[in-house]
Amino acid sequence: RRARAGGRMSGDYGSIGRTLVSEEELQARITEIAAEVSADYEGRELLVIGVLKGAIFFIADLVRRISVPCELDFMAVSSYGSATHSSGVVRILKDLDIPIAGRHVLLVEDVIDSGLTLSYLLKNLASRKPASLEICSLLTKPGHKRLKMPTRYIGFDLPDVFVIGYGLDHAERYRELPYIAELEL
Ligand code: PRP
Repeated sequence: RRARAGGRMSGDYGSIGRTLVSEEELQARITEIAAEVSADYEGRELLVIGVLKGAIFFIADLVRRISVPCELDFMAVSSYGSATHSSGVVRILKDLDIPIAGRHVLLVEDVIDSGLTLSYLLKNLASRKPASLEICSLLTKPGHKRLKMPTRYIGFDLPDVFVIGYGLDHAERYRELPYIAELEL
């Protein structure tokens, strides 16, 4: 899971720092990804699986630009143990509503940081025998390269800073920003 920014007291939300990806850049890239997905899945039906909560804005914008028929489902996950370190152990808080066996699944994330959340989810979903399983992440951080995640669609590679906006939070704040910024503490 995304590390919390420092050992801060609750109620300390920091502030919005420099913009890393503007609203225009985000929207243009999402249009490109949607076109790629539409071409790759032509003639097939897609099951888009979102991981709550960070991915909801990305999914909403993405699926509205995909031209193949899409079904949506969501999972909510949480890690055990310390909030400031990725433990790699993921607990499912909300599972999918429908079986995915035989379906073409696109797993959509807002950010791959350590990659631990996705590597757990990939194994879990693969065991349910979908017809195909691909990953789409709006953002990646350098850490994910260590795990060599088979990410088919990536929006932007970002440096290893704490990012907020467009779904990403700090202490549940800033998700509503239409762009990606660095958190300033
Ligand atoms: C973020 C993000 C991924 C995960 C990535 O979720 O949405 O699920 O962290 O981190 P990892 O690659 O290090 O595992 P977060 O815990 O911030 O929850 P949220 O989406 O509900 O804000």
